[in-house]
Amino acid sequence: MKNGNNHAAQRLSALILTLTLILCACGGKKPAEPVTPVEPTQAPAVTEAASSSSEPAESAEERARLSFSEKDIHSGDLILVSAAHAYDFEANDDTLDLKNIRENQSFYYQVDKLEFSVAGRILPALDRMIAACDEAVGTKETGITSAYRTYEYQEGVMREITEAYGEAYAKKYVAIPGFSEHHTGLAVDIGIFYEDGSQGSFSESRNAVWMRENCYRFGFVRRYAEDKTKITGISNEAWHFRYVGMPHAAFMTEKNFCLEEYIDYLREHTSENAPLSVTCADGSYDIFFTDAGEIDEPSGEYTVSGNNVDGVIVTVKREG
Ligand code: DAL
Ligand code: ZN
Repeated sequence: MKNGNNHAAQRLSALILTLTLILCACGGKKPAEPVTPVEPTQAPAVTEAASSSSEPAESAEERARLSFSEKDIHSGDLILVSAAHAYDFEANDDTLDLKNIRENQSFYYQVDKLEFSVAGRILPALDRMIAACDEAVGTKETGITSAYRTYEYQEGVMREITEAYGEAYAKKYVAIPGFSEHHTGLAVDIGIFYEDGSQGSFSESRNAVWMRENCYRFGFVRRYAEDKTKITGISNEAWHFRYVGMPHAAFMTEKNFCLEEYIDYLREHTSENAPLSVTCADGSYDIFFTDAGEIDEPSGEYTVSGNNVDGVIVTVKREG
């Protein structure tokens, strides 16, 4: 995922350097002091020098460009991982940043295996979602039954489920190794854990109902719903939740889009001039898809995620 702040800082430094050079060239004198962004009394001088320069004002304001690599297409919160779209392990090697749940959770909740981890950036949202679920339901039974999986771990899951329930069943509920959302570190399976350590049925719990209706508030979506089986290729899984972040989770939930549908829908919003505008509890955003290798850098706060198919999705926070 790219973040706008570094680019904005680079642009600011470049602008200051340009303006310093203009001041030196126009005045023919050494500036009394170096022009720095932290000296407030010098800010008006910079503005004045820029406007009296022989260069047109726009040249100093020229938009920085933002370029995307193949790697950008295959990483980020919105990547679609399915039977048709393999997870790109290499593209995500540097940024996955796994965090062990048990060691980093902000309050205690059960985790089926001590080694379970998720992408570090989703852990705060996961913690808040579990806490809110427990509070709403009035018990402390919500926990994690599965999280990040390596390729080999997924092979083991496939083998175990096939042996226990047969191949037809395994195909409905287990992704082929290399094609599982669990490789992303952005997916978790939620379960019910009783005090004695035994597990209950999540699918039939009040927790499942609450989670289905409220997970979007924390940036998660229920990934494999009954009415989307034909599209996702996976049968109804009440327990599997996928982080996509805000405002995407809110919009997908409102429109009842599964990730495949949302990725297709976003392709219609292809340019910076025709973005999808979404307002949610988090704020207002403009979202657009691009398969161009380079675009004008959006102004303000923005994030970029690949769709793992053919381009990237840029999410720009609107100010005010
Ligand atoms: N249960 C989901 C589909 C997986 O195996 O990734
Ligand atoms: Zn799962």
